[in-house]
Amino acid sequence: MKHVKLGVNIDHVATLRQARGEKNPDTVEAARVVYSSGGDMVVMHLRQDRRHIQDSDLDRVRHDVKGLIHLEMAATPEMEKIALKARPDSVCLVPEGARELTTQGGMKLDGRKPELEKIIKNLSKAGIEVSVFADPDPMAIRAAHNMGADAIELCTKNYAAAWGKKLQAKELEQLQLAGYLVKELEMELHAGHGLDYYNVAPVARIEGMDCLNIGFSIISRAMFVGLKSAVTEMKRLLQ
Ligand code: PXP
Repeated sequence: MKHVKLGVNIDHVATLRQARGEKNPDTVEAARVVYSSGGDMVVMHLRQDRRHIQDSDLDRVRHDVKGLIHLEMAATPEMEKIALKARPDSVCLVPEGARELTTQGGMKLDGRKPELEKIIKNLSKAGIEVSVFADPDPMAIRAAHNMGADAIELCTKNYAAAWGKKLQAKELEQLQLAGYLVKELEMELHAGHGLDYYNVAPVARIEGMDCLNIGFSIISRAMFVGLKSAVTEMKRLLQ
């Protein structure tokens, strides 16, 4: 099986820090552990409400640690400006709702072509690889391709919710079919959302899978075994 990269989302290291408004746990320290434990990328979602990751986290991890940074962000002029200044290695455009606990699904692309095409073009021109978070839906994948995205991150939320239920095989099949289309369009194939130590292996084995972005399960496990072991264990499941 080909090497599937692991992007480790450290948003919830910042969630814990924000709970007390102090310096710890530090995202820079978390990023160092992620890279030294075999994580291929550090992932941060800079939300418009700044509920966890702050602008300073992005800047500090960029300047103080050597390694790839993947930024998840809403497709807004504010976020585009921040990305062009901070220069993450890659960006994933995600939908954002003010009151949601976490991202609720793939981007709705209908009627947004000119606006999204412009953001994707500007980020690409700056050398930033752009992915679009999409449901395993051929229309959305083709639309993101037509807007110039380099990669699709398939939303695995429904697959994760169907784990252990009858629907699980169908959800996995939808991801596999969507994966074929992404590869046919010669784009990078990523996936994420709700993946954990139990449900990750079938997604990692989808043909052509390049990268999985995983946060909540790794940071939760880190509370009991430490971040190094939590990353190493997940990385092993991807091989
Ligand atoms: N990918 C995207 C686009 C996301 O929005 C998130 C959640 O921030 C993740 C992956 C990671 O999801 P989880 O924290 O459930 O592993």
